[in-house]
Amino acid sequence: MRVMLLGSPGAGKGTQAQLIVEQYQIPQISTGTMLRAAVAEGSELGQQVQKIMENGELVPDQVIIDLVKKRISQLDCENGFLLDGFPRTLSQAQSLRDANIEIDVVIEIFVSDEEIVKRMSGRRIHPGSGRSYHIDFNPPKISGKDDLSGEDLIQRKDDREETVRTRLAVYHDQTKPLIDYYQGYVPELGKKAPKFVQINGIQEVQEVGKQILTVLEQYTSDV
Ligand code: AP5
Ligand code: MG
Repeated sequence: MRVMLLGSPGAGKGTQAQLIVEQYQIPQISTGTMLRAAVAEGSELGQQVQKIMENGELVPDQVIIDLVKKRISQLDCENGFLLDGFPRTLSQAQSLRDANIEIDVVIEIFVSDEEIVKRMSGRRIHPGSGRSYHIDFNPPKISGKDDLSGEDLIQRKDDREETVRTRLAVYHDQTKPLIDYYQGYVPELGKKAPKFVQINGIQEVQEVGKQILTVLEQYTSDV
């Protein structure tokens, strides 16, 4: 199963990704988590992207495309993967097509901007894995600690309201066109076109998850 999650920053991609990778035993490819790991390591890539990420802007396409292609070529992606946070521009989407990387299902999690701003202030993440929580809506079992490792949770630097607003503007400008792109993909590709589904993200975490799993089950029973 090759799944792509689209949606604005804070729509719940990372939260739902946890459920999907567990259910389908596929790796999660979160470009945001990969980049944050590079920043934490202080690698050359990390130094190159740190400021861009803190400002809520997009890392240059070619940097991201190289990173994702390399990741997808690894053995554990042979039977599928989940893309979370990639593609984010038309040129990134085109790079998948150029490399003949087919996607089975594209899921857009839709959440309004005002709801996003509310959510981000309460988000906490586990830096090692990227696991995401919310102090009210999706709290960890022990306050401030990751459920699996017991390690400390942190607040992301780009979750300040001002930066969230920049990220939303970048989303509307550069990433939202991908919704039309994937909805309009069908005629040219025929059966190879990914199935596109929009899910209402302003529902309880469990309900959003249930609807996503239903879509994926439907897909596997159709093919
Ligand atoms: P990235 O890490 O991908 O950030 P993002 O897209 O802004 O998305 P988020 O991780 O902020 O949100 P999410 O949808 O995963 O939501 P979550 O599940 O955590 O990217 C960071 C940066 O890296 C970018 O700004 C850019 O600089 C760079 N980058 C990454 N990929 C790139 C690319 N392809 N090209 C160029 N640059 C790139 O949920 C959010 C909060 O809401 C949590 O607290 C959660 O608990 C809560 N929540 C989730 N679901 C619900 C619900 N149903 N109800 C209530 N609360 C909920
Ligand atoms: Mg995320």
